[in-house]
Amino acid sequence: MAVVTAKKPENGKPDRKHNIEAIREDYYERLAKHDMSPLWKVMGALVPNEPATRCAPVVWHYADVKSLVMESGGLITAEEATRRVLILTNPALHGESRVTNTLFAGIQMIMPGEIAPAHRHVSSAIRFVLDGEGAYTAVEGEKAFMSPGDFVITANWAPHDHGNPSDKPMLWLDVLDAPAINFFETSFAEDFETPTQETTRHNGDSLSFYGSGVLPDGTPAKNRTPVINYTYARTRPIIERMLQAGDVDKRHGARVRYANPVTGGPVLPTMGAFLAMLPKGFRGEPYRSTDGTIFVCAEGHGTTDVEGQVLEWGPNDVFVVPSWKRYVHTAAKQSVLFSISDRPAQESLGIWREGK
Ligand SMILES: [Fe+2]
Repeated sequence: MAVVTAKKPENGKPDRKHNIEAIREDYYERLAKHDMSPLWKVMGALVPNEPATRCAPVVWHYADVKSLVMESGGLITAEEATRRVLILTNPALHGESRVTNTLFAGIQMIMPGEIAPAHRHVSSAIRFVLDGEGAYTAVEGEKAFMSPGDFVITANWAPHDHGNPSDKPMLWLDVLDAPAINFFETSFAEDFETPTQETTRHNGDSLSFYGSGVLPDGTPAKNRTPVINYTYARTRPIIERMLQAGDVDKRHGARVRYANPVTGGPVLPTMGAFLAMLPKGFRGEPYRSTDGTIFVCAEGHGTTDVEGQVLEWGPNDVFVVPSWKRYVHTAAKQSVLFSISDRPAQESLGIWREGK
């Protein structure tokens, strides 16, 4: 600790005019000893005039990601690892296991014949399937078999396990709200004694029961969706029809919001997702919002310019636009983008904003 000695003039009294900085530093050091500090030193950082993200824009290209994830298949089993996942770390936040300030993202792989054992946790998780065919996520009594482009949800405290009875590896993007849950210091988790759960429903039951414009009579409204798997086979044709009908947002393309079919609200209270089709040659108008967003290219090729940093993307590439960074999507060919963020959490707190 630096020793502060306020210069004293001949009469022995501190010269406030010339030594005020030294006197203040001395004061701050004495405050620190009492676990106190002056607000005026940190006001700008504590209450910035506009969002000041710690995150950087970043893209992961699938060719690199896939070969590195495949390598892990020979190093550790899904059962040993519990979940064989490589974390996507925001380059500005190395070591923090997060890709935006509130969201975790990782690439999970399950090899043929493997089981990722049953557990549950307070953090909600979603999967966006990248590669493979016929592995499943079992959740809430339903074994949801997955295909590329499917959007699968395991809500807060929902037991879930994964298995792969197919003959090909399956890879998907995992996104969890764990950094937000840990911010609130509210995480619980537990493993189950058996690696798999009993299933009482058939594949696709929840989408059939709740996602078809009717509801099983007496379905209670909850703050998260009862649908386990929003399949690409069901959702993609909708955005294609919107595109053909000219229902194309100037910033986002022909876009749907994944909704809780009982309430019309977001699929989870902490995370919300969209699927958008951009027509060939699309050049979006500039957009920004306070929810740092993870995108996945499901089809096509294009770029996203984030305040001068151009992220090029193609199939299964994952990229991130941090909070309040202005961006523009451009599509070289007809493209489909999945996106997910903490927007529902921000909206429920009344703090979400968007702009140009
Ligand atoms: Fe999990």
